Amino acid sequence: MKNIILIGFMGVGKGSLAREVIQNSNYIAIDTDDLIESMANKKVKKIFEEDGEPYFRGVEKDISLWLENSVQNTLISTGGGFYKVENLKKIGIVVLLDSPFDAIIKRIKAHPNAARKLKKRPLLKELKEAKKLYDARRPEYLALADIVIDVTDKSAQKCSKELLKKVKKHV
Ligand code: S3P
Repeated sequence: MKNIILIGFMGVGKGSLAREVIQNSNYIAIDTDDLIESMANKKVKKIFEEDGEPYFRGVEKDISLWLENSVQNTLISTGGGFYKVENLKKIGIVVLLDSPFDAIIKRIKAHPNAARKLKKRPLLKELKEAKKLYDARRPEYLALADIVIDVTDKSAQKCSKELLKKVKKHV
C-alpha cells in the first residue's frame, strides 16, 4: 500500500473524506495541518498571525521530507497550499479533490460550524482574494494529480468509494 496524498483547495472536504476512507479501508490517516499545530502547539490561524505564512510554508516543507522518508501505507490529508512542496509526487499517489470555487464556498457555508470554518482559514478571509488564489492554483493542482475526484454535491461516502476504486486501478 502506497501513501495516498489528498490535495485540493481549502474547504473542499479533504478531512471529511479522509475520515470516511479510514472507516472503509486499512489506511491510517494523518493531516499536515494537525501535525503543524501539534508541533507548534498553536492553531494555524495563530501561526499565520504570529510567525507569518513563510514560516508556516517552511514547516510544511520539513513535514514533506519526513513524509517522504518515514511514512508508508498512510492516507495523508494536506492543507490547500501543501501541494507546492518539491517532493509531493515522491510522497505517494496524489489525489485531487476538485470542485468549482462557488460550490466550495457553498459547502462551507452549509456547515453547522460555518463561521468557525471560515475564521480558522486566514486565506479565506477575503473571498475575492480567495477566488484569485483558487484560479491560480487549480491548474497546478490538476497538473500534479494522479487521480482527480470531482466532489461537487457528492457525499463523503460516495467519494470514498470512488477514491478506493481509482487507487486500486492506479497501483
Ligand atoms: C491553506 C489551507 C489551510 C491551511 C492554511 C493555508 C492554503 O488548510 O493549511 O490555512 O494555503 O490553502 P485547509 O486546506 O485544510 O483549509
